[in-house]
Amino acid sequence: MGEQGPCHFVIFGATGDLASRKLLPALYALEALGQLGPALRFIAFARRDWQCADWRAHLGASLDQHLGRARDATVFARFAARFDYLRGDLGDADAYRRLREAIEAPRAGDCSNVVFYLAVRPAEFPVVVGHMSAAGLGQAPARHRIVVEKPFGEDIDSARALNACLHRYFDEDRIYRIDHYLGKETVQNLLVFRFANTMIEPVWNRNYIDHVQITVAEAGGVGARAGYYDRAGALRDMLQSHLMQLLTLVAMEPPATLDADALRDEKVKVLRSIRPIAADAVAAHAIRARYGAGQIAGKAVLGYAEEPGVAADSATETYVAARFCIDNWRWRGVPFYLRTGKRLARDFSLVAICFRQPPQLLFHDAGAPPIDPNWVLLSLQPDECMQIELRAKEPGLNLNTRVVRLDASYRPAGGVAMEAYQTLLLDVIREDRSLFIRFDEVEWAWRVLDPILRAWATDRTAPADYAAGSWGPPDAERLFDRPDHRWRNGIQDA
Ligand code: BG6
Repeated sequence: MGEQGPCHFVIFGATGDLASRKLLPALYALEALGQLGPALRFIAFARRDWQCADWRAHLGASLDQHLGRARDATVFARFAARFDYLRGDLGDADAYRRLREAIEAPRAGDCSNVVFYLAVRPAEFPVVVGHMSAAGLGQAPARHRIVVEKPFGEDIDSARALNACLHRYFDEDRIYRIDHYLGKETVQNLLVFRFANTMIEPVWNRNYIDHVQITVAEAGGVGARAGYYDRAGALRDMLQSHLMQLLTLVAMEPPATLDADALRDEKVKVLRSIRPIAADAVAAHAIRARYGAGQIAGKAVLGYAEEPGVAADSATETYVAARFCIDNWRWRGVPFYLRTGKRLARDFSLVAICFRQPPQLLFHDAGAPPIDPNWVLLSLQPDECMQIELRAKEPGLNLNTRVVRLDASYRPAGGVAMEAYQTLLLDVIREDRSLFIRFDEVEWAWRVLDPILRAWATDRTAPADYAAGSWGPPDAERLFDRPDHRWRNGIQDA
């Protein structure tokens, strides 16, 4: 993008897992697409005692491992040439002084536009911003901004404390809180689907919609992340952020404009309208479980309790399902069912909107089971697609009906998907905050989930197991209001 002026992009934790798996491949992909301006420089900040050449070798090896395709030598040369490597400990004040010198070096040009990406553990955020501030980084120029990853806090109190710490040095509009789900194309397409089509908006409410299901299922287990995950669990790791964000986008009112605050104001209104769950009603609204041993794609896998790094007395859930009610004019009476878990049957994420039955069932034999209602299905992964299920006449002499699917997918088969991080990193560089989370969104999401966390904290017995490779605990069906409701476990699952 020719219009991008000089920009410095500092990556703290540049040799870490997040940088290797997500950030560097996404930045490389932007380079390949010609989206990085000529005056964009990266500074890789990490502990290893390396020279720039060592870093570049690492960069190449790391891309080879995580890019998912062969890298192009010309693109890589251009990309690698943008990097400087700065050796430093996060707790070493002198490293930040050297960082400032690197940013202000005469050959670096204008140094007012700087991104500081904290690809480090949240516990280290206070140390980093404190040292940055002492070194005079991130303060005065309004274009110095920080990017932080979820989880933002472990509950409402720790989130507020962390926020207060960041606010000592950065105004809210210079803090970019990433939730990478907002960078996924289907998630953005949800906004377009809802607000660019006159057909959709009039039926997007309690008069026509019966209930909403949001599923994010993963076949993977905790892998090497047990140290983090065992303290977090599925509610903190996924529900509080990714799934609550999906819920707000399904339920929000049309924003006045697409600017960052207009969008985020509407999302906050949804969170504020979620009916608080009373302490004695938690069991009826939320279910937790953890995976036991089982089989994924024909291979035996360990149960969560046996995974390396999981505490012997762990009570952490790897699955959560919950029901929420939104008490506003649009949604009162429409349950929202959310669930997520690890080691489920397969990777599968779906927003499924179930419509009401027609008021008169003309094409329905007395005594027969109810006909399938209409559904709008927005699939996030593995396929990014959008389908609408309707009923049509079955060909033939009889007036029988069957389900037909209108496919409204927007990417041609075989088209290359844009990675969520590509979108979000470009937005950070362009200073567009619309797809980043404002603190009141974080705070309200914690507020909604706090009663569940509190109830679970008082019961330290391990949650019930579900078999790895299954769709989770059968108990999760009991969240539904009606006996004919059930979870959709696939796009073609009617
Ligand atoms: C992360 C969670 O935020 O999202 C992980 O910490 C999870 O536990 C991941 O696996 C899922 O992301 P995606 O994009 O693969 O669905």
